[in-house]
This record gives sequence, C-alpha cells and structure tokens, in this order.
Amino acid sequence: MDPELRAAAKDALIRYGGDAFPNLFRTAKGTIVTDDEGREILDFTSGQMCATLGHNHPAITTAIKNSCDTALHMFSGMIPESVVKLGRLLADWLPPPLQKSLFLNTGSESNEAALRLAKITTGGYEVIALGGSWHGTTGGSAAATFASDRRGYGPKIPGNHVIPEPNAYRCPIEHCRDTCDMSCLRVGLKMFDMATDGEPAAIIAEPVVSAGGIIVPPEGYFDQLKSAAQDRGMKLIFDEAQTAFGRLGTATAAAKLGVVPDIMTLSKTLGGGLPLSATVTSAEIEEEAHHAGFTFYTSHVSDPLLANVGLAVLDTIAREELMPRAILMGEYLTKGLRDLQQRHEAIGDIRGDGLLIGVELVKDRHAREPFHDLGALTTERCFELGLSMNIRRRPERGSVWRIAPPLTVSTEEIDRAVTILDQALTESLDKI
Ligand SMILES: Cc1ncc(COP(=O)(O)O)c(C=O)c1O
Repeated sequence: MDPELRAAAKDALIRYGGDAFPNLFRTAKGTIVTDDEGREILDFTSGQMCATLGHNHPAITTAIKNSCDTALHMFSGMIPESVVKLGRLLADWLPPPLQKSLFLNTGSESNEAALRLAKITTGGYEVIALGGSWHGTTGGSAAATFASDRRGYGPKIPGNHVIPEPNAYRCPIEHCRDTCDMSCLRVGLKMFDMATDGEPAAIIAEPVVSAGGIIVPPEGYFDQLKSAAQDRGMKLIFDEAQTAFGRLGTATAAAKLGVVPDIMTLSKTLGGGLPLSATVTSAEIEEEAHHAGFTFYTSHVSDPLLANVGLAVLDTIAREELMPRAILMGEYLTKGLRDLQQRHEAIGDIRGDGLLIGVELVKDRHAREPFHDLGALTTERCFELGLSMNIRRRPERGSVWRIAPPLTVSTEEIDRAVTILDQALTESLDKI
C-alpha cells in the first residue's frame, strides 16, 4: 500500500458521487478484484454491472491484442469491417425488426441517440420515463433519469415527464401491496395526458428498473407500455444496458417479455467492461430518420477496437453457455439469500430476475420502514470481509442491495458471499 498515492487520490481527483472505497485497487480477474493491500475481494457488482464474462476474460484481452495489430480507431466516416460484422451479428441476437445499429461508447450516449431518433421521426420532443429510472448523465439521458440527483444543474431539457414505477413492495402511489395492479401506469399516463404539450416523442424504460431498487414490473406491464406508446404516436425505447446478453438468462429482456420496442439501447454488458454501446432500431425507422437528417457523429462512433471486443463478448456468451448458467446461478444465489432471510428479520424482500437481484432491508417486515443505517454498515463490513456489493439508498425508495456478479460466478464464490453477508448482517445489527 502506498499511503502517498492514497493521499494523492484526494488531491488529484474530482469526487463524482456514489460511495467510493478508501482503498485503491490494482487488478481485476474473473470475480476477484485486488486492492492496494493485496486483499482479494469478491466483486458482486461485475464492476459497474458491465463485466458479465468476469474481469479480463481471455477472449476480451485477445480481441484487444488483435486490434493492436489491425486497428484501434479510425476516421468516423470510415466504417471498419469489424463494425459491420458486429451489426450483422447483433441483428441475429435481437428480435426482428431490430436490425440496424449505431455503435457508440456509453449508455448515456446510446440513450441520447435513441431519444434523438424518436424525436426526429415523430417530430415531437416529449419523453415519458419511469420513477427510479437511470438512463445516464448527459443532457437528454439525464433529463429522463429519476434515480439520481436532479438538483443543482439548472433546467432540464423541456418535455420530460415521470410516471410512478411499478414497485409492488413499496408502491409509489401507496395503493398496492405485494401485487402491482398497474394503477401506477394508468395514473401516470393520465397525468401525462393532462400535462402534454401535444408533442410526444418517446417512452423510455429499463425492463428491470435497476438503480431504482431492482424493480421487476408485473406481467403485462410492457405490453401496456407499448400500447400506450402506440396510442400516443410515441416510440418505445428499451434501455437494456443491464438486462441484455445473459444477465436475465436470455439474449434480451425484450425476447423474454415478448415485447419488441421501436428502439433498443445496449451498453454495459455489450462491451464486457469496455466502453461499447449500441442504439438499435428497425430498417423502417432508420430510413425515416436518415431522410429527416439524423446525425450522431462522435469521435469514437464505429471504433474497430470496441467492435472486436463486442464480437468476442457475444461469441463467449454463446460458446460458454452463459445464458442458461445465469439462470442456474441466479437460482442458487436466491436460495442462499432466502435462507438468510429466514434468519434475519431485516431482509424484507428479495426480488429480481436471473443474476440481477435486489435485497431490500427494513426495520420491520410489516411497516417496511427502510433500514438505511443497516444498509450502510453492512455494506462496509462486507467489504472488510471481502465482498463488494452495491447498496441503493434513497429516502423515498428504501435501502436495496443490488447484487449482480459476473455470469461466470461459481457456486463456491456464491457460498462465500452469502457467508460474508450473514456475518456482516449479524455484526452490524449488534452494533445498531
Ligand atoms: C439502465 C442504464 N442505462 C444507462 C446507463 C448509463 O450508462 P453510462 O454510465 O455508460 O453512461 C446506466 C448506468 O448505470 C444504466 O444503468
């Protein structure tokens, strides 16, 4: 450990929000990250929910090395062969008619592009997003984001509307308990219809509202959202940053739901840890957008390095059969957590899909008062004991661990994580 370097982190870096660990970090391999004291920590967030193949998977490092011998970056007007190959492969992975891709870098960017596509093809500008949603930190994406801090940056892009999220455990309209009857959606749409300027463009939604507390909408929700979009002449955008490419055990949430959006955005899991994102739509919408003058010309659009990585990620998910594995490991982890719930009254709810799991902490199971202190203390203790987990804490939404290990996680690693969690919960509860 280099104390001077740790001190320099305070002097040299801008703090960008979230809870940062006091330690610095050196390596990441598979499910393990190593800190500056040489401690090995189980990474149950897959980095920032990106490293679904585990960190530094050989297929990814080989793709990077090969790109060093061919091309890393090119003039944005030169389309690399690898980009076309990835576009063609994505069309095979996604439900029709989603077949035309634009390759960018971050999730925020992919949503900017999706919103622009929706705006230029509808002629409108109004956007509906769900409470608790997270679509990014850049202008348009941030305006449609309701899970992060919106204060302090002046007016957002006009025309963004929020509808209450379908959280059955903590119903935002205080109507349902445990079973969402979708009143939240009906009320939300009524409010939108009352407030609209008559210029609708898009409804954007995550298939599992992740940062908002791993909210899995009830069956039929997305069919209704699609009808709502169609009725209003809006484009439906699925933000599949976290849900695509195996985390739910399927290629996409759209395939699982049987609902195809007009536009899909893919990021985090497409690059497996490298900044690759995509905005995908139908040939018809792409044609219309192109004729209307659609542009999204960035420095790193269509970069060959990232396309090579994307090809390696998709190939590995198929070859290593990581989609069925995510289901098996998700069931195994959920069982371990349910056993913990038997012993810890503070675990109020366990929910999720595949290997995207939320655990909500409460002071008592009936009143469901959020147990924020326990969330903070236990997360800290887990880290000391060798497990990194992400806690989502908001006064209005409770304290929820977001657990999403790489799809390559082993049962031994899951057992170790559950044991650490058990010890951390017991010790933290004793302290409070
Ligand atoms: C669902 C979802 N969409 C978009 C984003 C933004 O992606 P990025 O941070 O790569 O801009 C995030 C980031 O956490 C996300 O969770």
